[in-house]
Amino acid sequence: MIKIAILGAGAIADAHIQSYRKFKDRCDVVAVVDLYPEKAAEKVAKHSLRAAVFKDLPAAIGQADFDAASVCLPPFEHAQATIGLLRAGKHVLVEKPMATCLEECDAMLQAAESSGRVLSVVAQNRFRTPMMKLKRILESGLLGSVLHGQVDSFWWRGGNYYDLWWRGTWKKEGGGCTMNHAVHHIDLFLWMMGAPIWVQSVSLNLAHDNSETEDFSTSILGYPNGSVGQVTASLVHHGEEQQLAFQGARAKVAVPWQVKAMRPRENGFPDENAEAAAQIQAFYDALPAVCHEGHDGQIGNFLEAIEGRGALLVDGAQGRRTIELISAIYQSSHLEQRVVLPLSADAPFYTRAGILERARRFHEKTKSVANFATNDITFGRDFGN
Ligand SMILES: NC(=O)c1ccc[n+]([C@@H]2O[C@H](COP(=O)([O-])OP(=O)(O)OC[C@H]3O[C@@H](n4cnc5c(N)ncnc54)[C@H](O)[C@@H]3O)[C@@H](O)[C@H]2O)c1
Repeated sequence: MIKIAILGAGAIADAHIQSYRKFKDRCDVVAVVDLYPEKAAEKVAKHSLRAAVFKDLPAAIGQADFDAASVCLPPFEHAQATIGLLRAGKHVLVEKPMATCLEECDAMLQAAESSGRVLSVVAQNRFRTPMMKLKRILESGLLGSVLHGQVDSFWWRGGNYYDLWWRGTWKKEGGGCTMNHAVHHIDLFLWMMGAPIWVQSVSLNLAHDNSETEDFSTSILGYPNGSVGQVTASLVHHGEEQQLAFQGARAKVAVPWQVKAMRPRENGFPDENAEAAAQIQAFYDALPAVCHEGHDGQIGNFLEAIEGRGALLVDGAQGRRTIELISAIYQSSHLEQRVVLPLSADAPFYTRAGILERARRFHEKTKSVANFATNDITFGRDFGN
């Protein structure tokens, strides 16, 4: 039985606890930690856990017997907590974003390597049937070469979203919607399309005046084979119509699931290519659904890796790769330059200090609340099956 600690008893902690509870024959949540012990106690009661409550990580490490932890803290605390846990011999599943800069990611990877413990980064949307199927279709070659990949990471948040104390500051949140919302779709995009070799970006704040950071960014990504990517992150899109779309030489596929194929008439104008679309649709339909969706799937995978029964789908190196692209997007948009990847350790946006020194503040954060009255959150578009 794997003994689990939950670090941070805020909004996302429920998803972790519920998922661990789905695997209760293999794991048990034995500790919940929060600066506000009453918030930790509330989770214990809400989920009927037999878990001890602690108000900081050193107390939990010193007094509780656990094997693995979910880090559900604000982004600026991910690196330090993860490194402390790994050094204490615990396996770690850290919430997105992995950290606020690449330097922190590298220190986390180093700690994982020296400890020999499992380090996984949350990217729960990989564990969704349409995403798994899309990935398999891209690997199948049925599209022909991929010419263009598009991420519409469209979200909507009210201005008061940024009233929470850690949000909307470069120091604590580490960025705006590119870092904290598009991180999900950027992970998926890199998983499916691979790493670009350059990026050119613009970032703006259109409508959130209690935040130093962007609520909109758009980026063009260049690939070694000449193909191109477009990644847009936004918090001003009503309806949150998020999508990933790939245009191949032979057909287009997208999630929410769609397949389209064209062929040329004698004069080059398009006709539907129903056979190509039907072939891809048949391939899609034949692929299996995932057993566990979202956080359930990721936590199942984390447990398997700890048990030595399977490989991680999202390891620390993949978490780092997402932060690398986000750092490059920030470097490009804030320094108004095309940025070549990979980013080296002397890149201006490699360290947190470098980012804090150079990132533009769109607004001053003037309002701050310690907690909202409700922890109800939404998770973006339901991608269906
Ligand atoms: N995967 C997803 O879809 C998803 C969704 C929401 C949030 N998140 C991520 O989860 C993380 C937490 O977000 P949230 O919305 O739950 O935030 P939150 O503010 O609701 O919860 C964080 C909790 O951590 C506690 N805390 C802060 N510092 C602490 C410390 N040093 N020791 C102990 N407790 C401490 C706070 O008191 C708070 O209860 C963030 O990284 C966020 O990006 C992921």
